[in-house]
Amino acid sequence: MDFITWAISPWGRSVPIHIAWYLIWVAVIAGLLFMIVHALYVAIFAAPKKFTKNDSPAVLAAVPERVPRHSLVARAFHWLMAISMFALLITAFLPKVGIKFDWVTYHWIAGLVLTASIIFHIIHASFFLDFWSIWPDKIDLRDAKRRLLRSIGKEAPPPDRFAKYPLENKLYHAVILLSGLAVIVTGVFMMKRVNTAGIFTRNPYLFGDMTWGMMYVLHGLAGVGLIALIMVHVYFGIRPEKLPITKSMIFGYMSRDFYLEEHDPKRWAVEESSPPQKGYAPSDAD
Ligand code: HEM
Repeated sequence: MDFITWAISPWGRSVPIHIAWYLIWVAVIAGLLFMIVHALYVAIFAAPKKFTKNDSPAVLAAVPERVPRHSLVARAFHWLMAISMFALLITAFLPKVGIKFDWVTYHWIAGLVLTASIIFHIIHASFFLDFWSIWPDKIDLRDAKRRLLRSIGKEAPPPDRFAKYPLENKLYHAVILLSGLAVIVTGVFMMKRVNTAGIFTRNPYLFGDMTWGMMYVLHGLAGVGLIALIMVHVYFGIRPEKLPITKSMIFGYMSRDFYLEEHDPKRWAVEESSPPQKGYAPSDAD
C-alpha cells in the first residue's frame, strides 16, 4: 500500500501529489492505541512516583502558596497556538474524510495565525525567557535511566524532582517543534499555489511538479503526525495527575504542594520578588 498518491504530469512523468489519506486513520488509531496502552500501564503496573527530596527550611519558607509558572503573554501564546492548530487540523482533514466544505481559505488564514504566533514565540522564548529550560539537561538523562531501572524492578537511587519541565514534556516540545516547522515552512510556500486575496502573489511555477509534490507530501506527513501528537497532548492535559500543570496554563500558577512534590527548587527556582498570581518564574520558557 503506497503512502503517497501519484499522478502523471503533463510531460508524462509520474509525480507525487499528496499523501494517501488513509494515513489520517493510521494517525488516529496510533493516538488511540498510545492512550489505551499508557492508561493501562499507569493503572496496573506503574509504581507511585518517588523522588529524592532534601529541601532546607530556608528553601521551604521561600516558596509561596501559589508558584508563578506561565506569564500572561506565554499563556495567551499557548491558547492562540492551540486554537489555530485545531482550526488547521479540522479544515485540513474533515474534507478528506467526507465532510465537504470550502476549507482552503479558512486553512491558510489559520496557517498564517499559527506562523505569526510561532515567530513571536521563538523571539519571546529566545530573548525574554529562559531558552534552555525546555531542552533536556544532564540530570534529565541521568534520571531517565534511574526511572527506567526502577520501573523494571532494578536497584537505582530515586531521581531528583523535575526542573520547570519534566523530560517527557521537553521531548514532546522537540517533536512538535519539528513537525510544526515542517508544516509552516511547506505551508508558506504552498501559499503561492492558492488565491490569497493578494497577500501572496500566485506563482504555481515557482517549483517543478516533483518539488511541489514532495512539498505537499511533507506537509501532509507532518500534518497527520500532528493528529496523533495533539491527541496525546490533550490526553495528558486531562489526566488527573497532570491537571495541576494544565491549570497552570490557564491561571498562570501551580500550588506550593504540587511544586514541592514534583519540582526541585534548586533546578527551578521561584522568583522571590514576584507577588503571587503575577509575574513568572525565571525559567519560564513556554
Ligand atoms: C496543523 C498544521 C497543519 C496541518 C495538519 C495541515 C494540513 C494540510 C493538508 C492535509 C493539506 C492538503 C494537502 C494536499 O492536498 O496534499 C494542506 C494544504 C495546505 N496548507 Fe496546510 N496544514 C497545516 C499547517 C499549515 C500552515 C501553517 C500553512 C500556512 C502557513 C498551511 C497552508 C496550506 C496551504 C496553502 C495548502 C494548499 C491548499 C491547496 O493547494 O489547495 N498549512 N494542509
